[in-house]
Amino acid sequence: MLKVLKHPLITHKLTQMRNKNCGTKDFRQNLDEIAGLMAYEITRDIPLKEVEIETPVATCKTYEMEKEIVLVPILRAGLGMVNGICNLIPTVKIAHIGLYRDEETLEPHTYFEKYPKAVKDAIVMIVDPMLATGGSAIAAIDMVKKQGAKNIRLVCLVGAPEGVKAVEKAHPEVDIYLASLDEKLNEHGYIIPGLGDAGDRIFGTK
Ligand code: URA
Repeated sequence: MLKVLKHPLITHKLTQMRNKNCGTKDFRQNLDEIAGLMAYEITRDIPLKEVEIETPVATCKTYEMEKEIVLVPILRAGLGMVNGICNLIPTVKIAHIGLYRDEETLEPHTYFEKYPKAVKDAIVMIVDPMLATGGSAIAAIDMVKKQGAKNIRLVCLVGAPEGVKAVEKAHPEVDIYLASLDEKLNEHGYIIPGLGDAGDRIFGTK
């Protein structure tokens, strides 16, 4: 299911990022902040287990997270969403999936993958700022499923309808979270209006 997370702070910060005059420092900072805000919303339904603890004055039954959370940034742009989520959930384990997009066919190719043991039973959040054709997201979901992951969420900043449709078709049980569903892809595979090349803008490359 697609969930577009509407919040005035997210919208405001995304507007800053879309502006072509937004520099590397502000782009990164806004992405950190939006990723944290998105993580807050996305984790609303995560299961808790009852635990008993001693406060300084009494014993009490209370709750803590039942499952581990594994974050899976798709290299390289996905790295830009890691800090913001780690600040909110410092116990996350972090996998890495390295994919590059063939500029002509737009097909994803794997060059790196590494997972924590917890991936099988964890809540897995695959992060990548741009959901364009959906090729990388579908490949990443395939890869974490091969590791045994069952509870998978895809978290992107901006998505194109084409990418959302492709992921929904390939992996209908995976929830997709976006800060914005944009208009379309252009002939070069860029999201319109989008924000340009997210990796280049995060890392200051061209
Ligand atoms: N990747 C990006 O970084 N930007 C787009 O618009 C599409 C894919």
